[in-house]
Amino acid sequence: MDHIQLDIVGADYVEASKPLLAFKSLIQLFRNETTLKKLTLRLVGPNVSSNSSRSFDFSENFTVKVVQELNLYHESSCPCGDASFLFNAGIWGYDSWIPTLEYIFKKGIPVIITSYNEFEADDDFDTLNEALYPKQWVVLKAPESNPYRSDASRDSGIEGRQCVENSYWMIIAGSQDPFQLDLKDFQSRLEHEALVVWKNATGIWGDAILEEIDMLMDLEKLDASKNRLPVKRDKDGSIIEGHLLAKHAVFEHSLVVDGKQVSNTLEFCPNIQSFVDTHGPALVMRLNQAYPGLALQGVDTLKVQVNDGGAFHMHYDTKTSISNRAITALLYLNPDYKSGQDGGELELFPFPLEPVLVEPAHDTFALFCSTETLHRVRTSRAKRRALAIWFSSEKPDELFFPSIVPPILNIDYSEEEIRQLKLLVSSRQSRRLLAKVKYRSHYHQSYFDAFGSSQIVKDAVALDHQETDKAEALLPKIVLRYLGF
Ligand SMILES: [Fe+2]
Repeated sequence: MDHIQLDIVGADYVEASKPLLAFKSLIQLFRNETTLKKLTLRLVGPNVSSNSSRSFDFSENFTVKVVQELNLYHESSCPCGDASFLFNAGIWGYDSWIPTLEYIFKKGIPVIITSYNEFEADDDFDTLNEALYPKQWVVLKAPESNPYRSDASRDSGIEGRQCVENSYWMIIAGSQDPFQLDLKDFQSRLEHEALVVWKNATGIWGDAILEEIDMLMDLEKLDASKNRLPVKRDKDGSIIEGHLLAKHAVFEHSLVVDGKQVSNTLEFCPNIQSFVDTHGPALVMRLNQAYPGLALQGVDTLKVQVNDGGAFHMHYDTKTSISNRAITALLYLNPDYKSGQDGGELELFPFPLEPVLVEPAHDTFALFCSTETLHRVRTSRAKRRALAIWFSSEKPDELFFPSIVPPILNIDYSEEEIRQLKLLVSSRQSRRLLAKVKYRSHYHQSYFDAFGSSQIVKDAVALDHQETDKAEALLPKIVLRYLGF
């Protein structure tokens, strides 16, 4: 990029009359950017003296053009710059900023907003949250102390509050709806393939979520991810003895459980909060429009998951008898992911279809049935982050994918055998059982991958072997042949 235009919104008379002095540090910063040949500063506001344009050649290779425009920014017909600045704007005190901010967000350009102190920064941020709802913007930098603030300070008139020019800053950008998903064949893909995956699903919103996940990690808000492993069961299948074990190097933090916010950490995460408030409900609405049979109600559970190494054992996400969770969605946020090298692939076993791998590459969004899709995460060899979302449905019992089972084509089977096999693979109960028998070796290995090889894990795997053996012994030969044995 050899030209950048920065819009100074609400510029005052002093800034407009002495721009080289007022923006000396800003110009210097951009002058140090060696590839930049031209910097345009567009000063717009009702307090600049007149409409004018001047150019200043700082060197053979670097020119600053200063444009003054006596106008309200949102009423101007001139093209917007690459970024806009609102210096010490005091958004909290002036409603007149709201149409300007709506205009900036609609244009999708980042806006850097500064304030005199921490208190005003918080007030500005709260005003944005309240006045510009539903939230169609992404926080690229939450309010924080600005390293480029002025050295001089003055009294604010309120004890304990000093005013320092540009003391705090935040960076926000417009984002109408981060989930720009192609939903054209959504229903058909879910019914036939049991899985839908989108690449480049959320853009800058995902980048902002990634920063928030890393921040939660730095703040040590994530805990070890644990599961209860049964080692002894009753005749009716209920657990007599089980042990809670942590998965090696897998951490998580729940933000929403049973449709309710359960964590106060959302206050540090304005973009994850925007999913809970705005983008989640909007996504539910659009998924329901594309596939009304899903009858999604809302976000049931929202979790942040990070693993640095480690794996997830094979599991179903839930049972309909204990939860309304119906659809699992995972947004992967791993910009440095190296395909074929970093591992950590989500592996789905959508029986009777063949297993499918989803790489956790950056901004990949995957969606599948929570109750009926056996899945695991293969061992990771790099840091792996995900935002995990479960949607509830009015009728989770009716969601069951693939709901359209591919034809059984085998000339060795009689018509009656095909009829019986079809019945089996179309039944929810037997499909779970058949999948477990078919993938028993993957199933058991995945426990060692996730939890290591302690005696408890060996006992849990041994119990599972016994149970799978029993189930397998009851299956007719035709079914075993169908499963590939
Ligand atoms: Fe899962």
